[in-house]
Amino acid sequence: MSAADPDPLAGRFGATSVAPDERRQRIRDVFRLVAPRYDLMNDLMSFGIHRPWKRAFVAGLAVTPGLRAVDLAGGTGDIARLLAARGADVTVVDPSEEMLAVGRRRSPGIPAIAAEAEHLPFADASLDLVTMSFGIRNVTHMGTALAEIGRVLKPGGRFACLEFSTPHWLIRPGYQLWSRTAIPALGALVAGKVAAYRYLIESIERFPDQARFAGLIRDAGFAQADWRNLSFGIAAIHVARKA
Ligand SMILES: C[S@@+](CC[C@H](N)C(=O)[O-])C[C@H]1O[C@@H](n2cnc3c(N)ncnc32)[C@H](O)[C@@H]1O
Repeated sequence: MSAADPDPLAGRFGATSVAPDERRQRIRDVFRLVAPRYDLMNDLMSFGIHRPWKRAFVAGLAVTPGLRAVDLAGGTGDIARLLAARGADVTVVDPSEEMLAVGRRRSPGIPAIAAEAEHLPFADASLDLVTMSFGIRNVTHMGTALAEIGRVLKPGGRFACLEFSTPHWLIRPGYQLWSRTAIPALGALVAGKVAAYRYLIESIERFPDQARFAGLIRDAGFAQADWRNLSFGIAAIHVARKA
């Protein structure tokens, strides 16, 4: 058992100290504001790399037709579409009605429900797979969310998480320069929302590194949690199995 704080981000909104409820509300505001330009900004900020990352994430999951899956923090539905293309029975869950609305327009056939990771509207042991892509760092009560994901998974079910992580030290300075300067500037230019994009970068920098996040997943009761890096650790995929 590690003594790591299960909610390391609960009192922070980027670089600012805030009460957990205020963080939750501010994050809701961020995604309400960025939803109309979210997909375009993702392509610009990452030079489109989020697309092969997402394809690699889903390709590594050995999805079989009929697999009962939820894409949590599913936003505009990129992961759900990739899962559905492989025959999964997938539902998108996200608290932002604005993000869900964009996804519903793009993929009307995929069910989408407004809910938070901390309170999932699914029965115990009812899902084979829960995916989360660039979502976990926005969750205020991470420990509660990980336990809740464990509750809804069947025994042997998997939690797969794609998230920004801690890059190799050799590329860290260049990466930090790009993310701290170019991304808020792009956010201002394309979406007119510089503060929202500054939050996104600060939340990336404060997110636990690969090993610490794997420890938090295990602390939430998962039997194992392995990870692999993408693009020298700029992002990482963690996959955990419920005992
Ligand atoms: C960066 S977007 C990721 C969207 C999509 N998964 C992707 O990879 O493009 C983060 C998403 O997390 C959602 N989110 C914020 N707080 C959440 C919570 N407590 N539980 C679940 N999702 C949350 C936001 O509404 C937003 O849609």
